[in-house]
Amino acid sequence: MRKKRLAALLAALLLALALPACSAAEEPPAIRIGVAVYLQEDTFISTITQHLQQMAMEEEQARGVKINLSIADSRGNQSVQNEQVDRFLDRGCDVICVNIVDRTAAAVLVDKAQAAGVPIIFFNREPVEEDLNRWERAYYVGSKADRAGKLQGELVLNAWRFSQEELDRNGDGVLQYVMLEGEPGHQDALMRTEYSVRTLVSAGVPVEKLANNNADWQRGQAKMRMQQWLDQLEKPIEVIFANNDDMALGAIDALVEEGIPPEEMPFIVGVDATPPALAAMAEGSLKGTVQNDAKGQAERMLELCCKLAFGEELPPEKITDGHYVWLWYTAVTKENLTALLGELS
Ligand code: BGC
Ligand code: CA
Repeated sequence: MRKKRLAALLAALLLALALPACSAAEEPPAIRIGVAVYLQEDTFISTITQHLQQMAMEEEQARGVKINLSIADSRGNQSVQNEQVDRFLDRGCDVICVNIVDRTAAAVLVDKAQAAGVPIIFFNREPVEEDLNRWERAYYVGSKADRAGKLQGELVLNAWRFSQEELDRNGDGVLQYVMLEGEPGHQDALMRTEYSVRTLVSAGVPVEKLANNNADWQRGQAKMRMQQWLDQLEKPIEVIFANNDDMALGAIDALVEEGIPPEEMPFIVGVDATPPALAAMAEGSLKGTVQNDAKGQAERMLELCCKLAFGEELPPEKITDGHYVWLWYTAVTKENLTALLGELS
C-alpha cells in the first residue's frame, strides 16, 4: 500500500517537473519586427505594408514561428520616427525596418541600432551611403532610382519615334513637357526627373520644359499644379512626366475637370503601377507607367528580417556592397498591361 502511494507521488512529481518544460517546448520561436514608415497613407508605402503583413502570416505558417510585426506611422516627422525607433528597441525588437522621413538623418538611427545590437533595414527612401556604412548590420532594400526615369524616358521615346505627329501637337518638332516631381530631396524624385529627360535628349529628341513643380507624391497637390499650368501656359503640353502614379492621376483629374477626353489628353507617364494607375491605362488616359515592385520589396525585407533575427546566413549574392538589396523596375505598356491586371485581380 505504502509502496503504491509512494509510486503515485513520484509519478505526480515527475509530471509536475515535466510540464513546464513540455509547454515551453511547444511554444514556437518568436521574433519581433518593428517597422516605421514616413507616411502610412502614401499609396505605395501602404501597399508595401499590406504585403508585409500578409507575407509575415504566410512565413509564420511556413516556418512554424511567431512573427510579431508592429507598424508605426511617423506622419512625415523625423523626431516622431526617432522616438518610434527608440520604443521598438526598448520593447526588444529583433530587427527594425525604417522608411526614413528625412534621408539625410539616418546616422542617428544607425547608431541607436548599433548600440542596441539590433540590425536595421532601411527601405524605399535611401539613406546617404556614409550613414549606411557606419555599421555592417545596416541595410537598404529598394530599387535603383535612375532606372525608373530611364524607362519612363523610353516610353516617351518610343511614342515619339512611332507616332511623332500625334505627340508633337503644335508640329514644331520639339517635345513640350511638364514635370510633376515628388518630395524635394527624395532620391526617386531627383533621379526620375533627371533620367527621364536625359533619355530623350541623348536619343536626339529636342525637348522644351514648359513647367515643373513638386507635388510631394500626392494626387491632390498634383491636380492643383496641373490646374495652374492649364490656366497659365500658352503652348500646348505634349507630355506630362509624373515622378509617381498618384501625381499622374492628379494631373488626369485636372484634365477630366476641364472636360478633356482621354484621347485628347497629353501623353502622360507615371511610376509605380498601382491598381488605379493600371485602370487609367486600360481606359487610355495614362499612357504608360513603370512597375515599382512593392511585393518584391516586402518579400526581400521579410526574408532579410527573418534571416537576421534567426541568425541564419545571408546569401552574399543577394547583397551588394554588404548593404544593398536591389530590385528591378519594369516598364508597363499596353502589351503587358493585361498580364499585370490579371496578377492583381
Ligand atoms: C514611390 C512613390 C512614393 C515614394 C515614397 C517612391 O518610390 O514611387 O509613389 O510616394 O516612393 O517614399
Ligand atoms: Ca511640339
